[in-house]
Amino acid sequence: MSITLHTGSFLHAPNGQSEGRTHAGLVVSGGRIIAFDAEARLKDRYPDAQVIAHPGLIIPGFVDTHVHFPQLAMAGAHGESLLDWLTRYTFPAELAFDDHDHAEARAQQFIRMLGRAGTTSALIFGVSFETAVQQLFSAMKDAKMAGATGLVWMDREGPKGLLQSAQSCLDASDRLLNKFCNSGHLRYALLPRFAPSCSPAMLEASGHFLASHPDILMQTHLSESIDEVEWVRSLFPQTTSYTEVYHQFGLCGPQSSFAHSIHLSDDELELLASTGSQIAHCPSANLFLGSGLFDFDRAQVNGVHTALGSDVGAGTSLCLLDVLRDFYSVQMTQGHRIDVGQMLYLATQAGANLLGLGDEVGSFAIGKRADFVVIRPIWDDLFAARWAQCNSMEDQFFAAAMLGGTSSIASTTIAGRTTIHPG
Ligand code: GUN
Ligand code: ZN
Repeated sequence: MSITLHTGSFLHAPNGQSEGRTHAGLVVSGGRIIAFDAEARLKDRYPDAQVIAHPGLIIPGFVDTHVHFPQLAMAGAHGESLLDWLTRYTFPAELAFDDHDHAEARAQQFIRMLGRAGTTSALIFGVSFETAVQQLFSAMKDAKMAGATGLVWMDREGPKGLLQSAQSCLDASDRLLNKFCNSGHLRYALLPRFAPSCSPAMLEASGHFLASHPDILMQTHLSESIDEVEWVRSLFPQTTSYTEVYHQFGLCGPQSSFAHSIHLSDDELELLASTGSQIAHCPSANLFLGSGLFDFDRAQVNGVHTALGSDVGAGTSLCLLDVLRDFYSVQMTQGHRIDVGQMLYLATQAGANLLGLGDEVGSFAIGKRADFVVIRPIWDDLFAARWAQCNSMEDQFFAAAMLGGTSSIASTTIAGRTTIHPG
């Protein structure tokens, strides 16, 4: 098996603090990291390795914990908040994925664009059509990407074409899971859209599906906007809170993550914490739709594991560098200072943990998949000017998050396969 030695400056945050190494190397064989050490020592130990020197900063690939496959073409749609935005833009865009050719082309494009943005693993919110989800799984497999996706379940409060019965969702989900999710790095995600789109019978069926498949993930939306919270209160008048709606159907637990979770009461946060449930925080989407400001400190203090999501198409960039900029700004607006190591952790290892892939991706630990990106200025721009003044790898990473975005991702390596991005 061929051996490759990637050399340069490496920064990762396996435990929440940044750890950097200059003049270092990562030895890759069979798509996995087999050594991470000083460059000189590795050159002695692996004299036959093909050496690739990467100018710039090498970090683990980003892990996007919440992004929608069928929403590329309507990202940045003008003028509405969540519920009207769904009706006016989102549902029509998703209906188009009933067409085989459209879905196939979009699946390839979606995975290509994730890689271009530096994302090497993701929990992808699929769509209501089994064939389109098959095409997405196939595209992930072809790219050797670790991650999760699945069929979106909804049986009310949407256009007819997106709705199907709980039984039909159960059957299609079983087929998808059996066909694609036996390799360990491709996981099945049960995706009831959100409580307003799912009847009690559908939520109950979701809970049963989750209970009978201990290896799958579950993700849904929770408490994103105030109007949505009030709608859920009117749809489930007997239930004490939005989070309790999911909990009563067996949908809370360590394999479950809840996108947004902005407007939660103390009791709801405690319920998430006590069940080991996780939060996919999507600051860019929250700003774009005017949904509210997520209090990261409060989630931390309550012990709720949190990672980051782009939430494209409500989010306006697939690149987690841009999402980190919004994350930082949202926390600063609330008076919370955020550590750079914590930012890197949130975009990498924290996401890996949320996906149940913490031993597979997220850092440069030996044995993990060789998933990494290289950051450096491509243009003569503000980022390049700032980069020239950076005096540490942490400073380079922070500058990239504030100023760099997708264009600062020079290359993306997934399972040892490197794609150099054109400048
Ligand atoms: N809530 C229910 N569906 C969606 C969706 O597609 N995007 C966002 N941001 N929120 C949702
Ligand atoms: Zn979403």
